[in-house]
Amino acid sequence: MAVQQQTGKRAHWGSKMGFILAAAGSAVGLGNIWKFPYVTGENGGGLFVIICVACVFLVGIPIMAAEILIGRRGQGSPITAYENLRGNKSLWKLLGWVGVVAGFIILSYYVVVAGWTLDYLFKAITGAFWAVETDQIPPMFDTLYASAFWNVLWMVVFMAFTIGVVIGGVQAGIERWNGVLMPGLFLMLIGLLIYATTLDGFGEAMRFVFYPDLSRFKGTSSVLAAVGQAFFSLSLGMGAMLTYGSYLKKDSDILRSAAIISVLDIIVALMAACILFPVIFTFGFEPSAGPGLVFKTLPVIFAQLPGGQLVAIVFFLLLIFAAVTSSVSLLEVVGSTVMERLGWGRRPAVLASGLVIAIFGLLSALSGSTLSGVKLLGDRSIFDSFDFLAAELMLPLGGIGIAVFAGWVLQKKETKDEFDQGSKSPQLFPFWRVLVQFVAPAAVALVFVQTILSLFSGSDVVH
Ligand code: PHE
Repeated sequence: MAVQQQTGKRAHWGSKMGFILAAAGSAVGLGNIWKFPYVTGENGGGLFVIICVACVFLVGIPIMAAEILIGRRGQGSPITAYENLRGNKSLWKLLGWVGVVAGFIILSYYVVVAGWTLDYLFKAITGAFWAVETDQIPPMFDTLYASAFWNVLWMVVFMAFTIGVVIGGVQAGIERWNGVLMPGLFLMLIGLLIYATTLDGFGEAMRFVFYPDLSRFKGTSSVLAAVGQAFFSLSLGMGAMLTYGSYLKKDSDILRSAAIISVLDIIVALMAACILFPVIFTFGFEPSAGPGLVFKTLPVIFAQLPGGQLVAIVFFLLLIFAAVTSSVSLLEVVGSTVMERLGWGRRPAVLASGLVIAIFGLLSALSGSTLSGVKLLGDRSIFDSFDFLAAELMLPLGGIGIAVFAGWVLQKKETKDEFDQGSKSPQLFPFWRVLVQFVAPAAVALVFVQTILSLFSGSDVVH
């Protein structure tokens, strides 16, 4: 019963807007600005983007509403919430465990990528891209990846900052920082977008991003990538939205909040694509450059643009803002779990969680240097293995579990009661429930099975 003694009265968001910004902050992250553009490039643009948007509406919004609902009803971080709803002995709390472990793993490599953005901001400020020939710029990323020292240093700096925010608590830490960083992020995005419209390649880029060109489409593998991208980008399947939902007051509209957060998330992803691709097309680069797009291709272009240094600084700052608000939500899941399960205070719980995750993160931070010879899943590096394990296996699995829990395990009366509190559109309940009961789990299960099959088919995994 440490739970009750510890929390007594559970923390709440200060305002509805505070929750929306924090949850949008969790969703909007490296997944939108770093991952979405390059995955779009790899999957041929247009049609992939349309499928992503469809996934968000059919699967993303319903599951996000389900997570928030479970959190608000269960009044706890993932494990505790399932326990509160279905009892201590219920196996459903395993779903909470999967979430917390996924959060732990994701944060451990997320902070490494976030660390790279710090390094690149530093490079932009000191003018490193302008001090060398342009063909020297892409290798800078390989040098960084292969440097144990810098990877660890930046990771530690980033983690320290994340810990600092989360220690502040729900209102004074998470809500307050999101209230500053998210508007800042939007302002920078709008500024960069206006800038992108002035480039020659803007028209071609718009066509690439929005025109469904069947000849460039890659079929099933792109559909799978779209569902996976939607999950990761919306922070679904591991309990981040559940935990944030547990701090939500009863007068907030769950479905509407989920819709606003998700739409904001797509808008940011699309804006990021509309900023990156014009730059890429204007300078004749390949849109399918892969994960290096932001770190290898963009700086080359920045180095040639008039006013490029300012643009580069704003861009990497933007990435950092996006990354902080997401990593904060990941740490909150693990930290609040430690608080509730062990009865610790916020400060020691968050500090210990952050520290342990950072130590575990060394594996990812060193995966391009000291540990570059180590392969885990098939021929994946440690870093890629964690990303695969958490984002492609645990998140979809968690998502199915959440949909089944909200759609089938909770009684209809229970869900309806929670859904209706604060709802301005209770008439949408049956519609949402059908999506959560059938459409979302079926769609995600399909993807999950495909992912498992691909693990054994050996196409990209050697066994
Ligand atoms: N949604 C975040 C992003 O797009 C990543 C994330 C995943 C955050 C899962 C929390 C939980 O970068």
